Amino acid sequence: MTAVIEPSCAVTTAAASGETVRALAHACSPRSLRLRFFLPRDPDPEDVLARYWRFLLGAPPWGRSVVALMGGVPVGLLNLVAAGDGLVEAGLLVADTWQRQGIATHLLTTELTRRRWAGWTVRATVQPDNLAMQALLQRQRLGPCRLVSADRDQLDYDIVLPALA
Ligand SMILES: CC(C)(COP(=O)(O)OP(=O)(O)OC[C@H]1O[C@@H](n2cnc3c(N)ncnc32)[C@H](O)[C@@H]1OP(=O)(O)O)[C@@H](O)C(=O)NCCC(=O)NCCS
Repeated sequence: MTAVIEPSCAVTTAAASGETVRALAHACSPRSLRLRFFLPRDPDPEDVLARYWRFLLGAPPWGRSVVALMGGVPVGLLNLVAAGDGLVEAGLLVADTWQRQGIATHLLTTELTRRRWAGWTVRATVQPDNLAMQALLQRQRLGPCRLVSADRDQLDYDIVLPALA
């Protein structure tokens, strides 16, 4: 699927590969990697890749990983992991120089409007100081988003996707 962000620039999506995941991790700042994985300090990308490799490349039936590409270059990653009956956990990571340009919104919209996810609940777990992700969750238009649990270390938000008509 292709969406136009600017007249000369199109973002496409594809199933993530080892090569695209590695390139994306190296295009992200340590801060972005820390926010994505709830790490206590800014990590080295290779440490993140070693620790979360299987998760970052999650594949059907229990997961799906979708990469956003700009001119063939990986700029964002959506990880989905089925966590229970009709519940899927979502994680997003966008390369720093591409943030605030609609990449995460495009990944969510492209993947989660597929028939496969109709009626599912999408859970996003966010650190309380991650205001960017919280703003994104409130702004998305996939379905109603509500805070379902909160403590000092994390906030859990659920988005209920519409069922098939
Ligand atoms: C959070 C993150 C995924 C957002 O990705 P993105 O591609 O920049 O998001 P979008 O461009 O689609 O933003 C959509 C909306 O979210 C909100 N938003 C996104 N980044 C924001 C920021 N830094 N500050 C305030 N609002 C923000 C805005 O409402 C934005 O719409 P607008 O730009 O028209 O105002 C990205 O910042 C990121 O990868 N952060 C590090 C990893 C992380 O925190 N992952 C989430 C944990 S699962």
